[in-house]
Parts: sequence; C-alpha cells; structure tokens
Amino acid sequence: MSKNREIAPALHYVGVDDRSKPLFEGLWPLPKGISYNSYLIVDEKVALIDTVDAAFTEELLANVRAVIGDRNVDYLVVNHMEPDHSSSIAAVRRAWPAITVVSNALALGMLEGYYGSCDSTLEIKEGQTLGLGKRDLQFFMAPMVHWPETMVTYLVQDKALFSGDAFGCFGTLDGGVTDDDLPLECYRDEMIRYYSNIVGKYGGPVQKALRKLSPVEVKLLCSAHGPVWKRKVAQVADIYRRLSSYEAEPGVVIAYGSMYGNTEKMAELLASHLRNAGVEKLAMHNLSTTHVSYVLRDIFRYRALVVGGPTYNGGLYPPVEALMNAVASRAIPSRIFSCFGSFTWAGASVRRLREAAEAMKWEITGTPVEMKQGYAEPKCCDMADMAAAIAAALH
Ligand code: FEO
Repeated sequence: MSKNREIAPALHYVGVDDRSKPLFEGLWPLPKGISYNSYLIVDEKVALIDTVDAAFTEELLANVRAVIGDRNVDYLVVNHMEPDHSSSIAAVRRAWPAITVVSNALALGMLEGYYGSCDSTLEIKEGQTLGLGKRDLQFFMAPMVHWPETMVTYLVQDKALFSGDAFGCFGTLDGGVTDDDLPLECYRDEMIRYYSNIVGKYGGPVQKALRKLSPVEVKLLCSAHGPVWKRKVAQVADIYRRLSSYEAEPGVVIAYGSMYGNTEKMAELLASHLRNAGVEKLAMHNLSTTHVSYVLRDIFRYRALVVGGPTYNGGLYPPVEALMNAVASRAIPSRIFSCFGSFTWAGASVRRLREAAEAMKWEITGTPVEMKQGYAEPKCCDMADMAAAIAAALH
C-alpha cells in the first residue's frame, strides 16, 4: 500500500520503510529497520527531493503517482549520492523522461559514474535558488556530511530543510511521518547509533555545516532517514551539535572481550568499584556478543571508556582490536580512558591497548590492571584505584 503524507501544503512525504535489510551499508544492524525519505513539492513545477533504495523503487513511484497522477515530475533534487538515496534515480528518469536532475558538480559527476550519463541536468552552486512557482528551493553545500558531494535543500516559503543524512536516525516510521506521531524519545538511541556509526568520523564538517545553516530558520527538519522533525527541531539540532563536537555525558563504557570468563570477572569487579565510587551511568558490553555499533553509540554518549581483553596470539583479542580500530577511525579527540587485560604465559593486551590510546593521543587514567591466568579478586586489587581515578576525572 502506498504511503502519502502531506507535511505542509503542497509538500508530501513519499518515502518508504525498510524492515527487510539486515545490515545498513552491509555493516550496521537494523533491529528497528530504517526509512528512506523522499519528498515531493507540487507547485507550478513538481520537484522530487531524493529517491530511495532500489529495493523500494516501485513503492516510491506509486507514492509519487498517488499525489500527482499523470502530471510530470519536473525536477529531481539529489542531495546525496549514496545508493540508499540514489539507486532509484534511473527508474525515476525512465518514469518521467523529461525530468531534470538538479545537484552540484561533484554529485552530477558521481551520477554519471554510478548510473551512466544523463543529458538533462542542472548544476547548482552554493546559495543558488530554483523557482517552482509560488515556492523556491535554495541549495547549500555540506561537504563531508558524510560524503564529499553532500548538500542540503531549503524550501524557502515553508522553512523546510531537506538535510540528507544530517539529523537522520535508524528506525522505520510505521504509519507516521512527523514527530506529531513519532516521539523523539523513541528514536534517540537509534539517532545516536546512526550518527556515531555513519557520520561519526566527520564531526568537523558537521560542525561547519551547522554553523553555516545557523542563520536559516527551520520549521520542518526533513532528514533522509527517520521522522520529520517539527516540534523537536531545536532538540534534534542540539543532539547533532553535541555529538559532532564530541561532547559527552558523565558516564562510563566498559567494553571487554573474554574467552573463558576470567577477563569478564575483571570487568564486573571494575563495574562494582565504579558504582561504589558514585558512577551512575554505566554501559557494559561484551564484545563477543554485542555488535560494535552499540558500543560506539555509547562511546559517543559517555565521557569515559575502559577496554579490557585477554592476550590472544600475542596481541589483542580480535573483537577488542576491532573496537579499537573502529574508535580510532572516528577520530574522537579525547576520552577518559583506561584498560585492563589478562594473559596465560606472556601479556600483550594491556600494552597494545596503551599503544592504541597513545596513537589517538588519549591519556591513560589510573593504572591499567593486568592479571595472569585465573581470576581472583586479590590479583586485581588495583582495580579500585582505577575506578576512583575514573570517577574523579568524570566530575
Ligand atoms: Fe543515507 Fe549516506 O546515505
């Protein structure tokens, strides 16, 4: 069944919900699905803003036709070329052959690289406007949020910002479109997980884009994923502002790997010492059972990170190494950091965790704890000092 929603006069939601794809970008689990948002503006000219994943092309076309019937779509605005938004472009061009594809030079180059040459394009530049009749679109470049060609489009008269991936989140819309029906609290966790995994490396460009757009009044924040924000525009913008500046709450993530439970007991001892030291917000993750995307979400959320694992093949335990690589690739400027580890005959994990932290220019808080062979609390008596040092650094 096609889904059409009029968000404002002449502005329609024509996107789709995806509850089938198991992994976004082949990497990130989607337990609550994802929406690919497309918008249609019906004026003297008809403009479609972005398309959807190719698996949902027919649904997109049906949604558009349900609004405009036999009318032509005059413009397709492409804010972002990642295929979750662009892979229906070829079908849209076949459906409305007179359509003009509107985007910046970099995106139009990618368009040809992905989908072949297109003889009807309109290259726009920073700040340029495009009249649709009673309404105008204005374009602002937002490079590296999170691809180089990304831009946003502003519907001037309705003060609606079509922001591409920015301000997006995982999660389907389930019959709603705006936050009249879809409360921010239901999407907050998946917004942070989306940001930290998809966009998290590019805090600087996101900050730059936010500064550029700060004079632009936004009444409707129309991301390419997740609800349209109308009541919570300021709150959503603030979440993105804080995440992109790597601001975090006073809390601790303990992320550990454990082969036979000994390192896990070290993690549990640390958690109890942290509780005793007054830490209220604490997220514990077993890296063998929790997908790294959830751990990254909490690392963006909380100010302290403690990583532990056994020595494995003379180095880091593979899930621990994968986490540290994922953290390093997101260029988080600083976290309160410490580590612990175990070994049977030659310890390497604590040394390697120290080196990983130093490579990111993170300081170690407290003294890392290293344990030989089986767990016993007296072997880990320094854990209380580490917990106290972390708790003190949080406040
Ligand atoms: Fe939703 Fe970067 O694509």
